[in-house]
Amino acid sequence: MAPQVRPIRLDERKAWVRSVGVPFLQPVTEDPADDEQHWEETPLERTWAVDDDGRLVGNAATFGRRINLPGRPGEDCPAVPLAAVTAVGVHPTHRRRGLLRSLMRAMLEDARSRGERLAGLEASEAGIYGRFGFGVATFAAKRRIETRRSAFARPVPDATMRLLAPTEAARVLPGLFEAAIARTPGQVDRTEGTWRWEVFHDFPAWRQGRSANFYAACDDGYAIYRSERVPGAGRRLRVQEVCATSPLAEAAIWRWLFDVDLVFEVEARLRPLVDPLAFRLVDPRALETTGVGDFLWLRVFDVAVLAERSYRSSGRLVLDVVAPDAEVLEPDPAVGRFVLDASPEGAECRPAPAGEAADLRLGVAELGSLVLGSVSASTLAAAGRVEELRPGALGVADLLFRTWPEPWSVTGF
Ligand SMILES: CC(C)(COP(=O)(O)OP(=O)(O)OC[C@H]1O[C@@H](n2cnc3c(N)ncnc32)[C@H](O)[C@@H]1OP(=O)(O)O)[C@@H](O)C(=O)NCCC(=O)NCCS
Repeated sequence: MAPQVRPIRLDERKAWVRSVGVPFLQPVTEDPADDEQHWEETPLERTWAVDDDGRLVGNAATFGRRINLPGRPGEDCPAVPLAAVTAVGVHPTHRRRGLLRSLMRAMLEDARSRGERLAGLEASEAGIYGRFGFGVATFAAKRRIETRRSAFARPVPDATMRLLAPTEAARVLPGLFEAAIARTPGQVDRTEGTWRWEVFHDFPAWRQGRSANFYAACDDGYAIYRSERVPGAGRRLRVQEVCATSPLAEAAIWRWLFDVDLVFEVEARLRPLVDPLAFRLVDPRALETTGVGDFLWLRVFDVAVLAERSYRSSGRLVLDVVAPDAEVLEPDPAVGRFVLDASPEGAECRPAPAGEAADLRLGVAELGSLVLGSVSASTLAAAGRVEELRPGALGVADLLFRTWPEPWSVTGF
């Protein structure tokens, strides 16, 4: 019989975790936490396997989260249900037989039937998911700064930081995180399980020669970082995350990190593309960008999500959304001709009346790139991915979808 995609059974949980390790070329560990972390995050009925005659040879899972859409100035962002896609893999013995496509169909159909508006993922390779309708929706940069070049152009108040043990950090950080992300489109919420396993469990295998996590917090934010010894140079801090409830509090936390004794360099990951921190510096060039990449990819299930976000300008667009190359949803409610009528007061998105001409033609993946506002319609048009059918429509779309602050996401899955 051909391999079948199905949700796993309770007694297959251990085998499934072992199966997940295979495509990622990760050795099987005997750490029970490796097993436990999956089950706190991932419900059994959303955990899929490819069964080849009793052997698990492929895997994928989704769990329910909420993602911030662009909000109104000075208000918290509206958050909508997101299917967070994780643990996607097919064993090397079974690759390129269409099994990922079958896993995708199972996951996306399930997510759509739950009323989730979007599916999101982090891609191991950028060539895989566009065909299923996922588009790049947020970017992330890696940055580095020599502490001797970190002088600020204007002083910031001292942050009163406290170093916290993991148990204390577990009580303090989640509330600060929630407050810090509330007004940033693209941010995804965290469950207790995310904090426990992705942050506080601090798996030794993730340290790669660096120290265990340090947790430092003040009333308005926190930093999570590791240190590493660099022979002949001193110590480098590797900052996992700085979250704060105001830009000034964030700057004060960075100042505190740059001033830690013995540290010659600070590295940070998952920073926004245009980093306000650079503009705090006397020498903005001191904050080097050492890497930039796509981070969150989004797949729209229903264009109604366009009516749930906010807009800073007004406009009307008729969008012709075409199916992705590897369509797995039939019918696909994101595909069709829709009228988006938006203004700062609110938006509507509904099927276009018969005979109404389209202004722009784009794929579902391009809609995933536009929905948060990270990528402009003009950029996608210049790449041949959005077609302007009515002169001027691209300009309307650029103004309409543009959002502040920049969409940004720091939670992977
Ligand atoms: C990526 C992976 C899941 C693909 O599984 P698969 O079962 O071989 O994929 P399928 O046979 O269903 O391929 C579906 C389509 O995707 C394409 N594709 C698959 N893997 C691809 C890759 N790594 N890069 C580009 N295209 C890829 C196939 O060519 C096929 O294209 P088509 O629709 O034009 O025919 C598998 O190779 C894998 O497990 N890789 C290692 C782990 C990994 O990277 N997982 C993804 C985590 S985000």
